[in-house]
Amino acid sequence: MKRKLRMGMVGGGKDAFIGAVHRIAANMDGKIELVCGAFSINPAVNKESAEELFIPQDRCYANFEEMITKERELPEGERMDFLTIVTPNFVHYAPAKMALENGFNVVIEKPMTISLEEAISLKEAVERTGKTLCLTHTYSGYPLVKQAKAMVQEGYFGKIRKIVVEYPQGWLSQLTEREGNAGAAWRTDPKKSGRSLAMGDIGTHAAHLAEYVTGLKIQEVCADLTSFVEGRTLDDDGSVLLRFENGAKGVLMASQISAGEENALRIRIYGEKGGLEWANEDPNNLIIKMTGQPRQLFRTGNAYQAPFTLSSFATHNTRIPAGHPEGLLESFANIYRNFALTVSAKLEGRAPTAEELDFPNVDDGVRGMAFIETVVNNNESNEKWTKFVL
Ligand code: NAI
Repeated sequence: MKRKLRMGMVGGGKDAFIGAVHRIAANMDGKIELVCGAFSINPAVNKESAEELFIPQDRCYANFEEMITKERELPEGERMDFLTIVTPNFVHYAPAKMALENGFNVVIEKPMTISLEEAISLKEAVERTGKTLCLTHTYSGYPLVKQAKAMVQEGYFGKIRKIVVEYPQGWLSQLTEREGNAGAAWRTDPKKSGRSLAMGDIGTHAAHLAEYVTGLKIQEVCADLTSFVEGRTLDDDGSVLLRFENGAKGVLMASQISAGEENALRIRIYGEKGGLEWANEDPNNLIIKMTGQPRQLFRTGNAYQAPFTLSSFATHNTRIPAGHPEGLLESFANIYRNFALTVSAKLEGRAPTAEELDFPNVDDGVRGMAFIETVVNNNESNEKWTKFVL
């Protein structure tokens, strides 16, 4: 590919959280440039955000409809290649569908939509248009998460039996949505967030991580969701028992009222011969626990010798020598880089490699929405186990 990919952005203005992280991640490898945006629902903030990002006035659009329509009219050598959607959940589906149908690739935040129906419709649009959709399940970009996946895949631990994944946060321990926290306000509003708060916002990250690392699909759930903070209707805490497709069992916890916690996502996986442990707050360490052996520690970026060689997926997603910490921004950038490499390969008429295709896609988005549906349905019913709705 002889040029950078051109990126447009909806949401992510000065009034937003995650949009800036997307821009850093997209910039990290020099393969992408931001060329246009409709950055905020607030026109003044939209304009100021564009100015601060050195986006010319004529490429700062009033809304995503105008952006997609006008970008499509530009010459091929100028118009954006893809649209990044970093708006609240209820403003995901419409821009994604319109972008795909107008010939643009899409990067979209999780949860992919606010309903399973919308998610299935997006999958249909991706298949019909042949465009690429990337879903930013941030934590799957870490090199040692990819190493864990590779070790499970090669049978290092034997058949997988038990998966324990937890994502406790504390930032919604109080009624922050009434104290001017815009991010909390839309997340706790079912019309803007969808049928779930904690399970949608962070439970989907945990469920994706469990399925990504083990390669096993969740088949049934038994859920207990609670809205602890008075004045809130959606779940701010939940525990879910999981049954996976090969008979493996799991436990998933997602909580935003775990007071004092930051972003303590952690996964433990146990097979017949041993297990592994990885945590977001210590992402450059992967702990391996094998029966009858001392505990082993894999570290990011080392040139280990066989049989401990780091997988091609781990090394492909590592940028700097061992001992220099890589973190969330790099993990996020890995998702962008693999997406950009895949889109570039398609533009060049080349088949992307397995490493390049290694980013969450529309199928993961549909499974995420199915996870929310199934968990909420189970919690609202009296049945013990509910089959995954897909
Ligand atoms: P936020 O509330 O901080 O920002 C939302 C932005 O969207 C604001 O700039 C707002 O003005 C803009 N906006 C709202 N409606 C719009 C419209 N119709 N047109 C254009 N702009 C519009 O939200 P935050 O925390 O940045 O979350 C955005 C999305 O990212 C959500 O879907 C959330 O679930 C996801 N997210 C994902 C994370 C991850 O780890 N992958 C982390 C944080 C958020």
